[in-house]
Amino acid sequence: MFTRSEKLLIPLTKPANPDPNGAAAIQELLGGKFGEMSTLNNYLHQSFGFKEKKKLKPFYDLVASITAEELGHVELISTAINLMLEGSVPEGEPTDAPLEDAKNLRNTHHTVVGGGGHQVMDSMGHFWTGEHVFSSGNLVADLLHNFFLETGARMHKHRCYQMTTNQAARDVIGYLMVRGGVHQAAYALALRKVTGVEVTKMLPTPNIDDAKIPEARKWQEIGSHRRLYTFSESDYGDVAGVWSGPADWADGEELEVIKGVPEYAAEGPVIGECRSLFSPDYAPEEIYEIAAQLMQKGGISPLQPGDGSHSRFQGSVPDSPGASAQNGRKTTPNPTKKK
Ligand SMILES: [Fe+2]
Repeated sequence: MFTRSEKLLIPLTKPANPDPNGAAAIQELLGGKFGEMSTLNNYLHQSFGFKEKKKLKPFYDLVASITAEELGHVELISTAINLMLEGSVPEGEPTDAPLEDAKNLRNTHHTVVGGGGHQVMDSMGHFWTGEHVFSSGNLVADLLHNFFLETGARMHKHRCYQMTTNQAARDVIGYLMVRGGVHQAAYALALRKVTGVEVTKMLPTPNIDDAKIPEARKWQEIGSHRRLYTFSESDYGDVAGVWSGPADWADGEELEVIKGVPEYAAEGPVIGECRSLFSPDYAPEEIYEIAAQLMQKGGISPLQPGDGSHSRFQGSVPDSPGASAQNGRKTTPNPTKKK
């Protein structure tokens, strides 16, 4: 099972400008065949169906702990796409066609279907599919597949890095290149322990030097390229049976297994509203007010309710915080609601 934290794996700040076509391009890193949805679901389902996991614990712990990190990668790349889309369509009166320019964006699903948000699809608009999951029940075949998957993923990340200068995208891609490199190396190391074969010597590809990418180099400089995280305080520690010893790709420095989550994880930026896309609603004040009432009721937030000028719940849902917030206040009825 999983627990969840509101933090993102890395600190991430809002980019200076929107980049909706850049967001369309890096959809490949989320929902492409070699994207984060694929790495997550391959390892997730391999771990669910793992044969003799007690006898093969170092290998099970490897696949299981990387699974947890991949869920965080899905979150990171989705967040980057959402940040790139924020502000990409203007506000305005519907009759003025404020969304007209969105017709010319690479991905109209971002606007029409996602309300200014990411979609679980690749850069050409194909939805991610479970057909991208390989879970054979054969340890060596799965490890080799995973090595190949991480190899392709790093290649795609490097290509996408070169497709945008948007800083949110580059920050995420730089980090994912380093972490993908760790996972690629880990599966290669596991294969060497099982079979004696060094797959990294078979083909020196992709020959990507992370040190040349500033957004990747900074993670190398703090040793992230030598660390695997268990994402658990108590479990998966036997991954050290695979991930240990000197790293030939890190000047012979020792590999490390870190119990728990990365220490640099941080709360991420808040994605703002987009009223012309009804995100979060056509008149968000009433929902903000309901949420503020709920927080105040629970004594868990210092936020105060808003001015209550837009509740559609007045008089219709007596127990709702929105209704109680409206007492004695002027309201604007929902124009779409039939009386
Ligand atoms: Fe990943």
